[in-house]
Amino acid sequence: MKNQYRKILFLTGAGISAESGLATFRSENGLWNNHRVEDVATIDAYYKNPDYVHDFYNNMKPELWNAKPNPAHLAITRLQKEYPAEINIVTQNVDTLHEKAGSKNIYHIHGQINQAVCMNCRHVLETWGDVSSETICENCQVQGMMKPNIVFFGENLLYMDKVEDLLRTSDLFVSVGTSGVVFPAASFVQTAKYYGADTVELNLEATSNNFYFDKHIMGKAGTTLPKFVEELLSDIKNS
Ligand code: OAD
Repeated sequence: MKNQYRKILFLTGAGISAESGLATFRSENGLWNNHRVEDVATIDAYYKNPDYVHDFYNNMKPELWNAKPNPAHLAITRLQKEYPAEINIVTQNVDTLHEKAGSKNIYHIHGQINQAVCMNCRHVLETWGDVSSETICENCQVQGMMKPNIVFFGENLLYMDKVEDLLRTSDLFVSVGTSGVVFPAASFVQTAKYYGADTVELNLEATSNNFYFDKHIMGKAGTTLPKFVEELLSDIKNS
């Protein structure tokens, strides 16, 4: 590990939002809320029954609207303000807690709950309100083509060109609260390591990605991440 980094990349997953009261995906009462993934998170399910899928995400909105950032989100914001490096956040989370924490340079590779995308013209609608097959696109005026801007299984991730660039050019890669089982995000650490980054994992428990991380910090991100940020900041003061 170095004393000073010039470009830091965070990869965050559901675990960073757990202490904000949001269930992770693979916990007992996971985010799928007793729905089958095949029914609510695949592009085929959406084509088959769009309103069933819309209802699932519409119902999720109030909880995510009300959720507040926790010390883990705030720690990244602090680092972005106080550390003299470019700091980017690639998140798998569809919540907006990094934004609420005041962070910047955020890339939602799995989409975000407060958006819908028109499959006719690709216009992105920002809304915390309900979206349905009745919704008319405000850009092209076509009805029934607005899809939740959530990346379903069977679709491409968003911002991948940017992410590839960040993985090649960052010298510190920090993964926070992700189980590392959903690809391609699970392979980001391997790419970052290949291009020479130091790699750190902060998670409640050991993940199957163990091999590619230089350092593991176990515990709740709301406790471990502020401490890790404090250490990075004191490293530059002492160097
Ligand atoms: P998971 O639910 O798979 O994993 C969450 C991870 O966070 C687990 O390894 C937990 O041990 C850990 N964790 C839980 N609480 C924590 C805490 N307080 N502090 C630190 N770590 C904690 O969620 P993701 O890895 O984000 O995709 O799931 C990846 C993708 O799977 C999601 O983005 C979603 C789903 O398919 C889409 O919706 C497209």
